[in-house]
Amino acid sequence: MKTIAVLTSGGDAPGMNAAIRAVVRAGIAMGMNVKGIHRGYSGLIDGDIIDLDARSVSDIIHCGGTMLYTARCPEFKTQEGIDKAVATCKKHGIEGIVVIGGDGSYRGARDLSLAGVPCIGVPGTIDNDISSTDYTIGYDTAMNTAMEMVDKLRDTSQSHERCSVVEVMGRRAGYLALQTGIACGAVSILVPEVEYDLDRDVIQKIKAIKKTGKKHFIVVVAEGIGGVEAIADRIEQATGIESRATILGHVQRGGSPTVRDRVMASQFGYRAVELLKDGIGNRVVTFRENKIGDQDIYEALAMNKVFNIDEYNMATAISI
Ligand code: ADP
Ligand code: F6P
Repeated sequence: MKTIAVLTSGGDAPGMNAAIRAVVRAGIAMGMNVKGIHRGYSGLIDGDIIDLDARSVSDIIHCGGTMLYTARCPEFKTQEGIDKAVATCKKHGIEGIVVIGGDGSYRGARDLSLAGVPCIGVPGTIDNDISSTDYTIGYDTAMNTAMEMVDKLRDTSQSHERCSVVEVMGRRAGYLALQTGIACGAVSILVPEVEYDLDRDVIQKIKAIKKTGKKHFIVVVAEGIGGVEAIADRIEQATGIESRATILGHVQRGGSPTVRDRVMASQFGYRAVELLKDGIGNRVVTFRENKIGDQDIYEALAMNKVFNIDEYNMATAISI
């Protein structure tokens, strides 16, 4: 391939810039031209494309967000949208694309590969919910941000002898909530993957632990469970412990990426370009058993991620 492009799609994640930088510089190092597509698949449909050189990606490795912007593009799910994207690629001489995003973005990459533009998916989402990989860009930074925020809530919960009910991002996945809950010593962690009973798993537990002398509590709730205000009210009514609800929200998607995110993003981006250079498309980059690898996109999308119930049970066992 002589000309490749890179885009970011779906929810942004800290480290996406480091991945863009790696793609651009690896492409140049391997003798290719690299273009940037603005706003994910929308930019591909609209032809919002820029030329990138090594200096275009200077000073971004430490920045959150994505210099290429990101978007959700419903039109790309239609044949008309795909046809427009293919026409844009022809017009700009784009022979292959690195798509940085989540499962949804991978589906778009699969469709575009099928339409004749080879794509490589790079895992980027704070949720770490992509089945084909143990790690996604942004997860470590988001976990650390959530942990720092909950640590601050712990301070004020301690002073006021309160219960703090905190919502952590993750509409369909509880990985971020589980790790944050363990790291912050939550009394209970509620995630979409595990059935729970508010009375048994939260209220009765708090009552029992209160009897041992504990005076303040943290309950971590994944976004997919939601209802933190109602949960806090029920805890307060049932236990007599003043309770407050906090939604951490999009603060978790920002900030300077951690070492792990910068390094993983650089490795993922480099591998994606190595594949395109060899004319290989329709694959995703993976991280499994501590190794960077790659896999067919169809196979990757057909996989199921298994929630680590042992880790969840461990967290429950030690929060007494
Ligand atoms: P993520 O990539 O983080 O999972 P989304 O699910 O919002 O984020 O998907 C991002 C974009 O990928 C969508 O806006 C759309 O353009 C594209 N996409 C998602 N699902 C599909 C699909 N089934 N077919 C084609 N494109 C899709
Ligand atoms: O997929 C990443 C994520 O931050 C989820 O955790 C969250 O549910 C969703 O995106 C929020 O999306 P939006 O940016 O549309 O609010």
